[in-house]
Order: sequence, then structure tokens, then C-alpha cells
Amino acid sequence: MTDVSVVDEIFGEASSEIKQYVDILRMDGVTRGLLGPRETDRLWDRHILNSVAISDLTRADAEVVDVGSGAGLPGIPLAVLRPDLRVTLLEPLLRRVTFLAETLDRLGLADRVRVVRSRAEEHHEQYDVVVARAVAPLGRLVQWCAPLRRPGGVILALKGRSATAEIAEAGPVLAETGLTVELLSVSAHPSAEPATVIRLGAGD
Ligand SMILES: C[S@@+](CC[C@H](N)C(=O)[O-])C[C@H]1O[C@@H](n2cnc3c(N)ncnc32)[C@H](O)[C@@H]1O
Repeated sequence: MTDVSVVDEIFGEASSEIKQYVDILRMDGVTRGLLGPRETDRLWDRHILNSVAISDLTRADAEVVDVGSGAGLPGIPLAVLRPDLRVTLLEPLLRRVTFLAETLDRLGLADRVRVVRSRAEEHHEQYDVVVARAVAPLGRLVQWCAPLRRPGGVILALKGRSATAEIAEAGPVLAETGLTVELLSVSAHPSAEPATVIRLGAGD
């Protein structure tokens, strides 16, 4: 379990907001089937800190889309930490979209975070930063996310240990898109477990 002081250090004035989100995940998130009951003990380390690890890779004032947001990860923790961002939570399943909209209202985030019910491949807007966590293998993810990336923007895929193998497997798709690929290890705090991120961009 992450030390409360670490949470306060990372989130500062937004600490009470992120704790409220964790309470929502722990209660409604589980009862409404968005999160497995076994996740409740590792919400901070595995979900919240892993989500905000990409903050330093997200430029100021960016428009961000969280593809396959599920219960709001990584989009909601990122939006709580970074009031400068405008975030779209993209999610096709109605039950999850309803949970997300209610959660944004409860957290008072609805003015700069919106929920859009759509599959990535059917959404036709562009963003500075496209983020995705636990949504699809890299090859498929890139096909869905590349059209959502504005020129000069980046795709940040939060991955686990499979990242290197996924990059190798996605080789032909990556070559077709012409995107540059970097494998990064980043963390929200020196004491937090580093997150593995595949950053895809281009020389544009
Ligand atoms: C395993 S969950 C991960 C949720 C969240 N990102 C997280 O890290 O906890 C995958 C999510 O991707 C969504 N999804 C599946 N196919 C999608 C698509 N084509 N476009 C956008 N989202 C999709 C699912 O509905 C689901 O909410």
C-alpha cells in the first residue's frame, strides 16, 4: 500500500479529489463490476500511480484522449493531477460510460473532462496526446490510435512486461504508420513502481 504522504506529495491540493475517486472505485467500481474485488488492495500502486506516471510525458495544456477508459484509467487520475489538461474519456460500453459520467459529476470534473461513447476506430477527432492502458495489443492499438493523433502529437501506451515483445510483433504496422517508437520507464514518484510506456510519435 502506498504511503498517504506519497499521495499527498504527488497530488498536493488535489489529494482529497483523488482519494474520493479511489473511494468511488473501491465501492461503486466493484459493485458495478468495473473493477475486480481483488483490485481494491492495490488501487493506489497498480492503478492510480501507474496512471499518473505519464504526466511528465504530457505537455502543458494538451488535449488528451483516453482510449478504452473503462473505469477512468488513466484519464481521471491524470486530469485530477493536471488541471491544465482537457481530457476526453473514450469508451464504447454504456454501463462504463454511465459510471464515468456520474464519477465526473461527483468529482466536479465535468467542465474539463468529457465522456464520449464510441469505439476508437469510429471516433473522428484529433488530440495532442492519445493515451491507452490495457486496451489491445500494440499493433491493433496503433491502428486505432494513429488517426486520433494530431500532427506533432504523441501516443502513450501504458504496458506491462510484454512491451518489448509487443513492439517486435507490431513491427509491420509500425513501419506502415512511420511512427517513431520509444520504450520508456517512468514513475510518478521516486518511491513508486516505474510504469512501462511505449511512446509513439513522428518527426512532424
Ligand atoms: C481491460 S479494460 C481497461 C480499462 C482501463 N483503461 C484500465 O486501464 O483499467 C479495456 C477497455 O477498452 C474498451 N475497448 C474495447 N475495445 C475498444 C475500442 N475498439 N475502442 C475503444 N475502447 C475499447 C473496453 O470497453 C474496456 O473498457
